[in-house]
Amino acid sequence: MKENNRKIRIAVFVSGGGTNLGALIKAQQEGLLCDGEIVLVISSKADAYALTRSKDAGIESAVVEKKVLGSQERFESEIIRLLEEKQIDLIVLAGFMSILSENFTSRYPERIINVHPSLIPSFCGKGYYGLRVHEAALEYGVKVTGATVHFVNEIPDGGRIIMQKAVYIQDGDTPEVLQRRVMEEAEWIILPQAVQQVCSQLASDTIKK
Ligand code: GAR
Repeated sequence: MKENNRKIRIAVFVSGGGTNLGALIKAQQEGLLCDGEIVLVISSKADAYALTRSKDAGIESAVVEKKVLGSQERFESEIIRLLEEKQIDLIVLAGFMSILSENFTSRYPERIINVHPSLIPSFCGKGYYGLRVHEAALEYGVKVTGATVHFVNEIPDGGRIIMQKAVYIQDGDTPEVLQRRVMEEAEWIILPQAVQQVCSQLASDTIKK
């Protein structure tokens, strides 16, 4: 009885290029993301290219900048206001580079998903984001890295793992080259799959209620 399912209303949080948002939009257009719908994009930066992607896809977006609002509390209150206004069921952090406090994450238990560019528990937690993760993997000399999609709780990169995919490191890799390979071979594949998996679960839980 899938036809009767209400689609899970998704907000994607971004800060930069938004290639993971692009992968989610593609999955939605191609029907892979069939139990959810991206209804809002929130950017923590006014100049994020991700905003162009959401505009091109006809998805509503909002910019919420901590430096403009002046405090973490105001920043999160504004985000919560937008989420409530759009009746959001699920939040996806797709390259969102702002910290969310425990006050925020505890409001949405197992309702916030993050994509991280390593195989957690390696190269994760405080200070590990974006290119720094790949720099650390190369510095350590690991031969395999990858990406992880996980739920977000109060521990940075510490919530329950939903999906992971491994990626081989090659001789001569630079952080930039490795970042691109991890995106192409792992993040852009498992993020849409994991979001669909969670949406499907949430949609069937809603029907049972
Ligand atoms: C991605 O590699 C994502 O995994 C990473 O930032 C990049 C954003 O790229 N996120 C983190 O490091 C979070 N800890 P995008 O804006 O092109 O999706």
